[in-house]
Amino acid sequence: MPTIDESLIKHVHDHYAEYTYDMFMMNMSAELEEIELFSEYVDVLNEKKIYTFEAARSGTQTTETDLARANGESVHVVNLSSYNYLGFSYHPDVIKAAQDAVAKYGLGASSSPVISGTYLVHKQLEEALVKFFGLPGRGVSLFTAGYSVNLGAISAFIKPGHHVIMDAASHMSIVEGAKLSGGEMTFFRHNDMAHLEELLKKTCDDFTRVLVCVEGIYSGDGDYGNLKEVVRLAKQYGAFTLVDEAHSALVAGDNGKGVCEQQGVLEDVDMYVMTFSKAFGGVGGAVYAKKEIVQYMNWYAKCRMFSCALDPAVTGGMTKVIELASGPLGAERRKRLKSNATYFRSLLEGKVVLSEGDAWVVIVHFGAESKTLQLNDHLQRSGLDTSIIQFPAVPRNEARIRMFITSEHTQEQLKKAADVILQSAAKFDFLKK
Ligand SMILES: Cc1ncc(COP(=O)(O)O)c(C=O)c1O
Repeated sequence: MPTIDESLIKHVHDHYAEYTYDMFMMNMSAELEEIELFSEYVDVLNEKKIYTFEAARSGTQTTETDLARANGESVHVVNLSSYNYLGFSYHPDVIKAAQDAVAKYGLGASSSPVISGTYLVHKQLEEALVKFFGLPGRGVSLFTAGYSVNLGAISAFIKPGHHVIMDAASHMSIVEGAKLSGGEMTFFRHNDMAHLEELLKKTCDDFTRVLVCVEGIYSGDGDYGNLKEVVRLAKQYGAFTLVDEAHSALVAGDNGKGVCEQQGVLEDVDMYVMTFSKAFGGVGGAVYAKKEIVQYMNWYAKCRMFSCALDPAVTGGMTKVIELASGPLGAERRKRLKSNATYFRSLLEGKVVLSEGDAWVVIVHFGAESKTLQLNDHLQRSGLDTSIIQFPAVPRNEARIRMFITSEHTQEQLKKAADVILQSAAKFDFLKK
């Protein structure tokens, strides 16, 4: 590595708390300055024993767990940082189905899904999803990550000269999908339907294809998308819609078909995106759409066509998850998840600045990014693991503690977690004034 200016290194040491992710993305020089400075930054956090990231778990994503932190420290925590909303990642029947699939098909798919990587187990998963969502003439296209679904689907659907209009709070995978497409990109203010309409008016004409991208539950804000109004406006102006139901597929709606079901627009949405990493308890994802769109995605979503198919074990496990989620166990866990979220929110309501609504993604705002490292360290050491987020995942100086409630948490665990939040809010000065 080339040696860089000592004063820059000193700056990182003196001001580590003010550094954010984006600052290590910029460098105009030929030297690997950003890589060297980032390495210094990680060293500082390790020296100070506040590197809270990538703490290894020794078992499944259960509601309490031990974290092996960097520097050899271990802490026991209530786990509100996994989006295993229905606890399916460790359900014995799901594990058994994954084991059966790996025994039958082997470890990897060993080919693109379009060449020889499609197995019977993939077809079974596709059929199970089509049956679960239940609309005629629809199909699914499977991907190896939720991230890749947005990346692949948006960049296949939108070409240079077309437009993507996105909510300003959209997940990185939507933004990157839009960038990759080469189309024009515009953001409307978060959940601001008047602003969306203003942009649609400006953008839509007979020659332009416009795709509006929104989320069922916003991952960084924890509130619901106004899908009913988005769909109405998109139809009025002749635009298409993509709804990312990463945090709501299998959970929201009476039957778990997501916020689209809850708001009565499942049939009207052009592309419904789901990720298997959340309530499904696995990894990968899919886009659910009209068969013709799905067929096109299978070939023209490049990160699908030019990449190995979903592994058989996960595919077998996901097929079992859908069976469980469609039956009484799914209904029972969905109900419990919702009452757990309501209970947890009731413990924090009025005391800290909380995300709106009743969703299981619970956000507590604490403001300045400079608090993030010490705060996360304090939370873990106090026995709570959360999914803390800051710029650029959310706007600057709007850092947040993000917590994922699951159906499997007990009231005692949620009470303990809320106590840690309130005690930390007093210490780090983010109690509601
Ligand atoms: C809204 C949203 N979309 C897509 C993704 C990417 O999903 P995955 O982690 O399965 O790749 C996430 C991940 O957290 C997300 O929150």
